[in-house]
Amino acid sequence: MTDKKFELTDLATGKKSTLDVKTPTIGPNVLNIAPLAKDHNVFTFDPGFMSTASCESKITYIDGDNGILLHRGIPIEQLAEKSNFLEVSYLLINGELPNGDQLKEFSHAIQYHTMLNESLLRFFNGFHYNAHPMAMLSGVVASMSAFYHDSMDINNPRHREIFAHRIIAKIPTIAAAAYKHSLGQPFIYPRNDLDYCSNLLNMFFSVPCENYQVDPVAAQALDLLFILHADHEQNASTSTVRLAGSTGTNPYSAISSGISALWGPAHGGANEAVLAMLEQIGTVDNITKYVAKAKDKNDNFRLMGFGHRVYKNFDPRATIIRGMCHKVLAKLGKSDNPLFELALRLEEVALKDEYFIERKLYPNVDFYSGVIYSALGIPRSMFTVMFAIARAVGWVAHWQEMIADPGMKIGRPRQLYTGSAKRDYVDISKRG
Ligand code: CMC
Repeated sequence: MTDKKFELTDLATGKKSTLDVKTPTIGPNVLNIAPLAKDHNVFTFDPGFMSTASCESKITYIDGDNGILLHRGIPIEQLAEKSNFLEVSYLLINGELPNGDQLKEFSHAIQYHTMLNESLLRFFNGFHYNAHPMAMLSGVVASMSAFYHDSMDINNPRHREIFAHRIIAKIPTIAAAAYKHSLGQPFIYPRNDLDYCSNLLNMFFSVPCENYQVDPVAAQALDLLFILHADHEQNASTSTVRLAGSTGTNPYSAISSGISALWGPAHGGANEAVLAMLEQIGTVDNITKYVAKAKDKNDNFRLMGFGHRVYKNFDPRATIIRGMCHKVLAKLGKSDNPLFELALRLEEVALKDEYFIERKLYPNVDFYSGVIYSALGIPRSMFTVMFAIARAVGWVAHWQEMIADPGMKIGRPRQLYTGSAKRDYVDISKRG
């Protein structure tokens, strides 16, 4: 809190109230409106949370006007260049970079929690082969609450830690099981001798009848994509995890609700939608036509992978991924990638267009990620699952931060009621 204050006057009654201002470490000040309801019987109205900070957090900072993203204060560009996904996971959850022993211990805990209970694995037989993998992922993650309910006291820090390890370790196994189920192939058990991303690729692409060697270029590319997706402060899915978790529910259920929120095309589902859009556009010649459709208010078509609630400048993650596309495609011997060429050209056209310039619409993290996923052989329906694997770390970090806060309150927004005023029940015989 600072000595800065805001004064609010009810012009009808002349009643004045003083509101405190909370100062963040960096970023805009935050007006504390919590006393308004109690002192003045008035609520604030902010659909879509355009101006509302829903909580206090120390995990991630975004400056949308300048394209800055910091995790625990460290710029995403440095983490992308120098770190790896498990180290970033440790940083997000614990607040500091680990020393050598801490990283070894954390990595070991993740590596040795990768197996699923066999009963959980049998759940997949209940899904039709063409079930969307995000539906299977949210269903099976929610079911983990049935397996670990008795050993999950949310007020016990050690239980919370084990929960974190289990989620980060088992989500890739569940994702791979969903993929194998959709193909009708046998499930491949995790291998604890492999690093996080190599293990994931092995569970996805190996089959019992053949030798499969993980391509280290592919594992490294996936690790980098996971770093870029690991957290993004109070986005829709993280806010969903916090809201569900604020009731004290089993955290596996809270994570499952985050997976459901992520699935939508305005959020994590955009990576799948971008590829569908690029395939629909087909060739460079059609770009002008589709850009015109995106600008037409009578047409539902939007440029998927463009625009962001917070970034009104380049999304720094998109810049890193675009650079990465060039390198990874070259290393995989797939430089001649028509989808990437089309995406680059589309970006170029949109960024010169007055409509996109005026509204500050830039490519976001999802615009280029699908190009890399498809170059790695990951099918389009699995793209959002990949996002969920990485974002699970952010969800866990935010859930932990909220539960450990002694001032935690159940999330319970209010509303602007515009329905009927009080009226009497009418008997069915008297209704028109
Ligand atoms: N294509 C065309 N017009 C757009 C787009 C787009 N992708 N995005 C926003 N606009 C227009 C929108 O029509 C509106 O115009 P006007 O002021 O004339 O009514 C203006 O820009 C502001 O858009 P908004 O929908 O009010 O902005 P928002 O902050 O509520 O929505 C968004 C942000 C990301 C949902 C939106 O930009 C969008 O739908 N983008 C496409 C989906 C997408 O790529 N989502 C991934 C987001 S990043 C990763 C993640 O969060 O998981």
